Amino acid sequence: MAEIIVVPTPADAGRLAGAAIADLIARRPDAVLGVATGSTPLPVYDDLQHRLAGVDVSRVRAFALDEYVGIDRDHAESYHSIIHHQVTVPLGLDPDLVQVPDGQADDLERAALDYDAAIRASGGIDLQLLGIGSDGHIGFNEPGSSFASRTRVKTLTPQTRQDNARFFPSVDDVPLHALTQGLGTILEARHLVLLAFGEAKAEAVALALEGPLTARVPATAIHLHPHCTVIVDEVAAAHL
Ligand code: GLP
Repeated sequence: MAEIIVVPTPADAGRLAGAAIADLIARRPDAVLGVATGSTPLPVYDDLQHRLAGVDVSRVRAFALDEYVGIDRDHAESYHSIIHHQVTVPLGLDPDLVQVPDGQADDLERAALDYDAAIRASGGIDLQLLGIGSDGHIGFNEPGSSFASRTRVKTLTPQTRQDNARFFPSVDDVPLHALTQGLGTILEARHLVLLAFGEAKAEAVALALEGPLTARVPATAIHLHPHCTVIVDEVAAAHL
């Protein structure tokens, strides 16, 4: 059963999730974080930047959820770049301890297997931050993804490419594929924290939280997890 918390604003959600992550790091200085991209987790990273000032984070490790396939890792919109600029640098993490799937690998299947193996070797993710796509995806697990899926290549839906077109010159420049942790991979994290804000997410939030468990709405996978916290603002909660 997911715990659902409705807060007035994204900043309030950022404070709640930021406090949970800071507590985790205080208990476990070598915590393994699962970090996400997109606009949704930004209030969490903002909050954490203040909360972690002066805290020793030199042993904190982090794994990103996903990465585009087919754009250079130094491209401004690669998740490698985004995690570096929005998470690693502001939070003062050791870049060597922050990993993003290698969307440029010649052998993407190998890169996917290696990524899952690296997560396992770390001891597993303690807390995984998640956003949600307007089609109900988490990571880049698009509708139809198996609940048992592992890190692998997924084809992005036209809806997702349209949603992400705002970060590229045009929708045609949005990559067609991504390397993403699978739903099965994500479900192995010890605590899931899913965030959603704004009207554009209200339908996906309602389907994820109140609809039937279905691969058509990948975020319903959270109901298979024993410890999931969902934090949404009032607008995203409007259809609940
Ligand atoms: C992308 C990411 C997801 C993210 C989603 C929503 O598809 N792969 O991890 O949850 O975008 O993005 P935003 O938070 O900007 O709405």
